Amino acid sequence: MKFFIDTANLKEIREAAGWGILDGVTTNPTLVAREKAPFADLIREICRAVPGPVSVECVAADAGPLVEEARRLAGLAPNVVVKIPLTREGLKATRTLSQEGIGVNTTLIFSTAQALLAAKAGSRFVSPFIGRLDDISQEGMDLVREILAVYENYTFQTEVIVASIRHPRHVIEAALLGAPVATVPFSVLDKLFHHPLTDIGIENFLKDWGRAVK
Ligand code: G3P
Repeated sequence: MKFFIDTANLKEIREAAGWGILDGVTTNPTLVAREKAPFADLIREICRAVPGPVSVECVAADAGPLVEEARRLAGLAPNVVVKIPLTREGLKATRTLSQEGIGVNTTLIFSTAQALLAAKAGSRFVSPFIGRLDDISQEGMDLVREILAVYENYTFQTEVIVASIRHPRHVIEAALLGAPVATVPFSVLDKLFHHPLTDIGIENFLKDWGRAVK
């Protein structure tokens, strides 16, 4: 299972990369806007910090401008993957870009049909937003299960990124389903470490070590 971090914050990215478990980064316009840094410089810096794929979102609406924008973004660093929302125009652009060898992460996926379209268009990744489905009282993880089952029936190369993760349980459920990638906010990655029995165990071992004959 690959772990991506869902942030554009360099401090968080470097910290998580230092843990040795980071395989990539996903950003979006909301996350980039939080950083108050010049966009192209920020993306280049993130791409230097993590050798794996770094998703960067396109904002153009029509296929032609989307392709132009995606080519510009892909030119920022060799590990840029362009994020394109699932629309008719986005799908047209995805076909062109994937034929050019530019990796596309099809984003804002909320149905299996959308994930199927993205795979057929040659997307490298699809990002179902499970937390946002949970937010409207739908079981987000059911969508991941269904997409994985459909992809399993064919030879699509598209990888599912479980996105919009809100808590550690989402990560575990994604892993139980065998999802190839989870993109996880820093706060949730940090929570994956915690168990009170680990803290108590360390405390007790240190106390006992103090009493040991050395
Ligand atoms: O990668 C998708 C993610 O950024 C969306 O998360 O928490 O805004 O639903 P959220």
